[in-house]
Amino acid sequence: MIKKWWQDSIVYQIYPKSFQDSNGDGIGDIKGIIDRLDYLKDLGINVIWICPIYKSPMVDHGYDISNYYDIDPSFGNMDDMELLLKEAEKRDIKILMDLVINHTSDKHIWFQKALEDLDSKYADYYIIKEGKDGTPPNNWRSIFGGSAWERIGDTNKYYLHLFTKGQPDLNWENEELRNELYKMVNYWLKKGLAGFRIDAIAHIKKDFSYVNLPADAPDGLVGAWEYHRNVKGIEVFLDELNEKTFKIYGSMTVGETDVKEVDRLVDFIGENGCFSTVFDFCHTLYHVNDEEWKDKPVEMLKEIRDKLFEKQLGSVKYGFLSNFIENHDLPRAANRFIPEKEVGFYSESMLATMYFFLRGIPFIYQGQEIGMTDFPKKSIDEFLDLATHQNYKTYLGKGLTEEEALKRINVECREHSRTPLQWSDDENAGFTTGTPWFEINPNYKHINIKEQEDKENSLLTYYKRLIKLRKSKDYKEVLIYGDTIPIFEQYDGVIAYERRNEKQRILIINNCVNKSSTIKFKENIKNVLLNNYKEIILDKESLELRLYQSIVLEINN
Ligand code: NOJ
Repeated sequence: MIKKWWQDSIVYQIYPKSFQDSNGDGIGDIKGIIDRLDYLKDLGINVIWICPIYKSPMVDHGYDISNYYDIDPSFGNMDDMELLLKEAEKRDIKILMDLVINHTSDKHIWFQKALEDLDSKYADYYIIKEGKDGTPPNNWRSIFGGSAWERIGDTNKYYLHLFTKGQPDLNWENEELRNELYKMVNYWLKKGLAGFRIDAIAHIKKDFSYVNLPADAPDGLVGAWEYHRNVKGIEVFLDELNEKTFKIYGSMTVGETDVKEVDRLVDFIGENGCFSTVFDFCHTLYHVNDEEWKDKPVEMLKEIRDKLFEKQLGSVKYGFLSNFIENHDLPRAANRFIPEKEVGFYSESMLATMYFFLRGIPFIYQGQEIGMTDFPKKSIDEFLDLATHQNYKTYLGKGLTEEEALKRINVECREHSRTPLQWSDDENAGFTTGTPWFEINPNYKHINIKEQEDKENSLLTYYKRLIKLRKSKDYKEVLIYGDTIPIFEQYDGVIAYERRNEKQRILIINNCVNKSSTIKFKENIKNVLLNNYKEIILDKESLELRLYQSIVLEINN
């Protein structure tokens, strides 16, 4: 395998609106990121991914871009961005931006021109089709709910939007459009970006080889995933994108695409794939408070473990996955995987250890390193995201009462992870001197960075240890390139694996439940590299794992 610079990345994801405000307007900004670079350096990460900061009407919090060449004034300006790149470089930190090229904002000049003249070349930059007898061209449902088509004025034409109606989908079949996008990507790479996380990229190819599909719900619409996600032929677009942009710069590219069939990974990652890596989403469906898993955390863990290892083993021959437990589209990991009463240092440090040493690139989402948690709301009006409101409506449409619908939203909604980062117990958690754009979780009084910094037994200190180990010169080779071998699979509630190469063997053992587990163990321990408890209970034949205990051991080879 050819080694690449990005393979030893440890990525920290910044949701800029909620990271750090520097000017008191209540919205996080680029200067705020610059002010906190030393914190990130001290944490030990070496790559930052920043969610979109381009000019945007913010219908989808920046994932609706109206100008790819400009920074949204709420985040600062291009000088700030250039300064951020310089300051990060001084600290050996590389920067990835989000690249949103499945759709633009409806306020983008191309779309505006398309609307002005439906016969112009810009109309073909988007997917615009004739309706049928006053109804949309087909019955696809938008990923955020409702029809995926929006009628254009009083014409019989409709444009496709797989996300909100403020995000018209681009027509990748149009070569001129593709070249415009490549030009823009190269503009940013030339500026010194190390690469991109590439949004919704699985959807750029659509299959319109049919009319309507059988509805999958009372709304008469259908998810139609097979017709707009990883549709065969997408690899031609992806390869062209890679050849004309990323490859020239040796960029790191992280595709937001869930490649379910591992054998298809060959088109996406690895020597000839179009991305450096793609996310492994296999755990994102699970929530300990879903009806299905309530009171069955062990069964849920077993399913997650099987899927996780299937992906790990299947991806090895192609390349590297990106591993994460949190991002800006999910509730917080502690709330998803741990029963409420058991959320705390042990369970959270266990979750961290469990995914961090899997083969691939570890990602940490802001606030995960201090164990930030969900902030349920008392009324639907306290949520801001269109997708949340759309889901709420869908639940009401399915017959749930308002109370039941809110309860579900409080469990599954992505806005939980978007509350401002809790820096300290000062007013507004040290995030802003103004009024925060989104309410801060009141638990900032005791869950905050200042409180955990320099504390021997805090989650933050534990994350620093994880990162240090992953980067250490003695272990990084095996932890990055070694094979992954599932171990102790016969013990329910335990997720354990070995990382191994010809020279070293490292065991990562996690007891993911609130009861002790005793496992048969005869290995000869050379070094204890990490342990979230003080002791290890070991005798000749067995290892007793305490509640939510995680240990990382080097074993004599
Ligand atoms: C995926 C992003 O992560 C999400 O936040 C966004 O709403 C959609 N793509 C649409 O761009």
